[in-house]
Formats: sequence, C-alpha cells, structure tokens
Amino acid sequence: MADGIVLVGLPGSGKSVIGRLLAERLGRPFVDTDELVQRRTGRSPAAIIDEDGEPAFRAAERLAIGTIEPGAVVATGGGTLNEPLNRWDLWRHGAAVWLDAPAELLVSRLANDGARRPLLEPDPLAGLRRLAAERAPFYRAADRVVDADRPPTVIADELAGLAEPRERRLFDAQVERHHPLGPTHARVVLGVELELPSDDRSSLIVDARLTRLQPRLVASLGAARCIAIAAGERAKRMRTLERVLEWLAASRAQRDEAIVGLGGGTVNDLAGLAAALYARGVPYVAVPTTWLAQADAALGGKVGVDLVGAKNAVGAFWPATAVFADVATVRTQSLRRRRDGLAEAVKAALIGDSELWRLLEERGRAALRRDEAARYAITERAARLKLAIVASDPFEQGERRQLNLGHTIGHALEVESRYQLPHGAAVALGLRAVAGIASERGAEPQLAERLDALLVDLGFDLRHAFDPAAAREALLGDKKRLRGRQRWLLPMGIGQVVEVDDVTDAELNGALERIGT
Ligand SMILES: NC(=O)c1ccc[n+]([C@@H]2O[C@H](COP(=O)([O-])OP(=O)(O)OC[C@H]3O[C@@H](n4cnc5c(N)ncnc54)[C@H](O)[C@@H]3O)[C@@H](O)[C@H]2O)c1
Repeated sequence: MADGIVLVGLPGSGKSVIGRLLAERLGRPFVDTDELVQRRTGRSPAAIIDEDGEPAFRAAERLAIGTIEPGAVVATGGGTLNEPLNRWDLWRHGAAVWLDAPAELLVSRLANDGARRPLLEPDPLAGLRRLAAERAPFYRAADRVVDADRPPTVIADELAGLAEPRERRLFDAQVERHHPLGPTHARVVLGVELELPSDDRSSLIVDARLTRLQPRLVASLGAARCIAIAAGERAKRMRTLERVLEWLAASRAQRDEAIVGLGGGTVNDLAGLAAALYARGVPYVAVPTTWLAQADAALGGKVGVDLVGAKNAVGAFWPATAVFADVATVRTQSLRRRRDGLAEAVKAALIGDSELWRLLEERGRAALRRDEAARYAITERAARLKLAIVASDPFEQGERRQLNLGHTIGHALEVESRYQLPHGAAVALGLRAVAGIASERGAEPQLAERLDALLVDLGFDLRHAFDPAAAREALLGDKKRLRGRQRWLLPMGIGQVVEVDDVTDAELNGALERIGT
C-alpha cells in the first residue's frame, strides 16, 4: 500500500500548515523533509549547505527521505524535487498533491512571515516566477492539483479523502519546439506505469515485437488502425517508409489524425519521418519503449531513415506533439539492448551533467538489472539535458551539435558493419575514440581512463573488429561535414565538449586503432 500523501508547491503555498492539519485528521505522522534532515544530522539545511556544500545536503536529504514512515503526510523542502531519485521515492510513498497558487498571492503571504529566503532575493515576485518555471515539470506531474488560495482547513478536509494514484507520472513538461510548420510546444511525460491517452482516430506504427510482448500496452492506445513493423536498423529504410506511407493512404488516414510511434529508436525515427511526410505533415506522438529511445532518440524531433552508405541520411526535423516514456516498458528489453541506452546516457553525462556521471558510476550497473529507481533517474537526467539543448537550438545550428558526441565514428562503424553493430555499442566505441583524440589534445587528466572504467563496468566492449579503411570511407557520408571538412566533437572534461575541424589523419588513425582489435 502506498497511502501516504506528499505535498509539493512553492514557498508560501501552505505545505506545512495544511500537512499538519491533514496528518491530524488522518491520524498519521507529519514529516517536513527539511526538519527531518535537521533531526537526523543535528544541523540545519542552511548550515550543511554552507559548511559541506549542496551535494552533501542533497545526499543527507536522500537518506532522510528513505526513512519516512509509510502513510505519513510529507511536506517537501525547496529543491528536493529537482532530484529524480527523490521524486521516485516520494511519488511511491503515495499521492502527490500540488498546492497551486498565483505568485502574487504567495509574495504577500511570505512578506508577512518574516523568514529570510535567499533564493527569492532581491525581487521575490520574479524569484517565485523563476522557481515556478523551473519546477513546473515536477509540480505538473503531481497526481492532484489543488487551488491553494483557500483556507487550509478546507483543503485539508478535501485531501483527507484522496485515493491512491493509479499511475506514477514523475516529470511532465511543456517544452517549446519553435517549429514553423509543426508544433510550437510538446508535452513530455516520464514516469512508471503511465496511463497512456487513448486516441481512436490515430494511426499506430508499432514494433512487431511489442505486439507479442506487450499486447495490453498496444491495445491501450485505442488506435483506429495499426501497422506492425520489424524494428532494427535494417528496417529503418526507405522501403519500410514507403510501405507505411502506402498503408496510411490506403486506410484513408486524415491530415488531422495523429501518427503514434510505439517502439524503440528505429521505429520512432521511421514513424516520425512518416508523420513529417504524410499529407505534408501530421501530428506525431512518440511512445518510446527502449531505454535508448526514452533517454534520447524520441525526444529531440530529428526523424529519419538510413541509406546503405550513410546513416540517418534521409530525414527531417519533425517534433512530436507529445512524448510518453514509461520506464516500466523497458522491463521486457534484454540486458544487452538496455545497455545501448546507457551509451547515450554516458554521452549526456559527458556533455554536461556531472551528477549523471556519478550516478552512472555508482548505480549504472544496477540500473541495467533491477534498480529501476536508478534507471528512471538516469533516463530523466539524460532526457532533461537533451530537452534543454534542443530547446535552445532546435535545428542544430550550434550547441545542439554536441549531442552528436561519439556519433561520428559511431555512425561510421554502424555503416561499416552493414548495420549489424547496434547503435548504442557503436556510440560507446565512438566515445572512446574521440576521448583518445581529446586526451592527446590536453583533455582533463584521466578522463579517457575514467570513461574506459565506466564503459567496462557497464559491460561495453572497448574494442571491436572492423575494417578501418571502410570506416574511413563511411566517414565521408557523415552529415556534419562542412565544405569538405569533417567536424569533430571532443570531450575535454565532464561538461566541456569542443567542436574542431582540424583532426589530422594521424589522429584519426590513432583513434581507430584505439578501438580496433
Ligand atoms: N532521432 C534521434 O535523435 C536519435 C537519437 C539517438 C538514436 N537514434 C536512433 O535510435 C536507433 C536505436 O534505437 P533502439 O536501440 O531503441 O533500437 P530499436 O528500435 O531497434 O530497438 C532495439 C530492440 O529492442 C526491441 N524492443 C523495443 N522495445 C522493446 C521492449 N519494450 N521490450 C523488448 N524489446 C523491445 C526492438 O524490437 C529491437 O529489437 C538508431 O537507429 C539510432 O540512430 C535516433
């Protein structure tokens, strides 16, 4: 039973007052996460942050959350929800309730309580609005939204009858897409055991394997028509695309009817391209079912198919109007295929999330197997990094190119193997190769060694048998070439990726040797 209640909301929304009243009515304990940390450590959150830094406080907070009694009413402290592992634990504790109130009301309430709030200085209204925008994806994921501009007793009475939630949304963001023809915004939902919206006018393009492994998931989408396609790189081709487009036309799919892609990265890339092309563009909904697609492939709006000699060479920018990523669907993936997803997560950590790197080192191996909390947290961290980069550079004019880290050689290896080598395994090798070049160019000491150690720990092969001449030939088909010069992304440190176009033949040979057998 998960019959606890977790109150979330901005400062001044009444979490503590309402939480205490509610606990009293239900005869349950009341826990304020900041007070809990203080009781356990003997120090206030501010003192821990001042003396040992925020990561130390967050670690103490994570431990404290793990000790909350079942059934308790919980009020969450400031940045608690920013950490996906906390949300995972709290949302499993029971129903999450967002006490929502306009920033103007909260400012007037806070002005009267006299407490110091450094996060909201010097302009409390602007500070609250900034916090509201930052935390919106976590608040929107709550099971219930309550208007907090009412007397606490009324709200406590209302919440006393709250039922246990049926699904666990953990992240629910409205992200900007800036597409001139496609959607201006997209909803991105991450969680576990999600209730997917059913749409009886949609066209479902599904990975054939899922029709066998997860028939209830397929049925829950309630599509008007459904086509099953074989997944995998060899199916991500023009001939499959043509078959799907002919099927859409033959079944009279309309321009205002969405296409839903249910499957891994290959099915989502292909279904998304079908959506971009059919009737000159129809709404696309992505339901990624592999770890790789949830952490990366289904999120950025790049869709496409492969040509024999050039990976992803035919495609479009066609963002989904909604993405629903449920980590529970990954349970039926084999361990080897799950590992592919971790390669993109390692890439994301290198690009800009040292916490994700630490999580991968500490719990990546366990996440591959049974540690679903870590699997979720890794997915969300990688996804948030990608969403932020894509929002600032939707059409890959600059910053977004960083997301191709490890992909230049990775794609060449995929082409060289005639698409036998899985994408994730190829990206892991590609990351090693560029880390080698970066290391010779003065990257952070030990970065290449740390990457190797992490990849070994996660079970990746550090070397692979391939024909270097064929791989070099495949590099000529890379989309990132500009005016005949290959552009390279090099990891110089965690959170420090640079783009260069002067990698020499000798450096490239060295990089290929590093990953060859
Ligand atoms: N568009 C982008 O921005 C982007 C980014 C990264 C990768 N990609 C692409 O993603 C592709 C790789 O994605 P992938 O690894 O998901 O490949 P995939 O779609 O081939 O799936 C891998 C395997 O998992 C199976 N599968 C799918 N869901 C399953 C489930 N829930 N349980 C059991 N088996 C399941 C599939 O049938 C397949 O055999 C590559 O083509 C890559 O280029 C695209």
